[in-house]
Amino acid sequence: MLKLLCGLAFIIALIITGTFGSPVVQLATSTPRPLVFWHGLGDSHSSSAMLEFFDLVKEMHPDIFIHSIFLHEDLTEDRRAGFFGNVNEQVANVSLQLSSIPELKAGFDAVGFSQGGQFLRAYVEKYNDPPVNNLITFGSQHMGVSDLPLCSPWDVFCLLARRAARGGVYTEWAQQNLVQAQYYRDPDQLSKYFSMNHFMADINNEVGDNMNTTYTTNLLSLNKLVLVLFTEDKTVVPKESSWFGSFAPSTEPEQTNWPGTEKTIVPMRMQPIYVEDRIGLRTLDERGDVVLETCDGEHMQLSSGCWRPILKKFAGELVGGDVMLTSHTEAVLRVQY
Ligand SMILES: *[C@@H]1O[C@H](CO)[C@@H](O)[C@H](O)[C@H]1NC(C)=O
Ligand SMILES: *[C@@H]1O[C@H](CO)[C@@H](O)[C@H](O)[C@H]1NC(C)=O
Repeated sequence: MLKLLCGLAFIIALIITGTFGSPVVQLATSTPRPLVFWHGLGDSHSSSAMLEFFDLVKEMHPDIFIHSIFLHEDLTEDRRAGFFGNVNEQVANVSLQLSSIPELKAGFDAVGFSQGGQFLRAYVEKYNDPPVNNLITFGSQHMGVSDLPLCSPWDVFCLLARRAARGGVYTEWAQQNLVQAQYYRDPDQLSKYFSMNHFMADINNEVGDNMNTTYTTNLLSLNKLVLVLFTEDKTVVPKESSWFGSFAPSTEPEQTNWPGTEKTIVPMRMQPIYVEDRIGLRTLDERGDVVLETCDGEHMQLSSGCWRPILKKFAGELVGGDVMLTSHTEAVLRVQY
């Protein structure tokens, strides 16, 4: 029995002498590339919705290894960390977590839900060890938000965070402690954002001439960057942030508060960070590896018509698995190129 992996003439033959004496020839099976999730705001690493979702993904890609990123094992604490904390520290924490998982050491695909998407991009740009193959983000805020998310009346963490933000999102305290403030990008207060923001402005290499080329190199190491926008998204303002869009600065400031005023969107390919290729996004796009997808519906309304084709195509690719030998098995391993 021989198996060719993806057309490469790469054959792993494993000859096992079984307990019944007669030699059995078996092949190393390839397994789906592992998949890592970073949950969204208001959720936790193992909420029932997340666990249910993982089951569906495992039906689609049998034997796939899934890891759900956490900042705390305790679900309530983990949920709280979506509102309160220093994002750069959280991403550093997660990089240690990912590097400690043996199943991930050859790399993985990553899925970020909502804010988990830009946090995973920060992981790619700053650490990427182990490396991400495809980064898929659903309804993420890659160019920040111009409004804080609305809270449901029973969401205590959300209400507390929103109240705390009233003191000002561009204060040092808010920028160190309120997660959403760390990707709050007000196009009418860009100089304040540039000087006070230590997360989004940093991973977008937005400020001045001191661009971190590691961010570019790492982003370019992605196979695909898949950006999913929800067509009716009213939680992410503007929803085009999921595709690296943002509001243009208002040219007539006295009009900005008029209700119903249509604001102009600066789309990805017109963003300065894209035009000046500050994080490699333009090169990646010109290489054909930025995939812009839409899902119908409100923020994170993950219908199966929306996520299935995406995770079918960009996750679960079969890769050559490690050959596991047990002490009961006498084996000869031959690798031919
Ligand atoms: C970060 O990692 C450490 C050690 O794994 C853990 O104890 C801590 O609770 C983590 N979370 C945060 C939010 O710092
Ligand atoms: C660039 O980012 C990497 C990864 O976070 C960091 O180790 C390095 O110090 C940064 N370089 C500069 C010049 O800031």
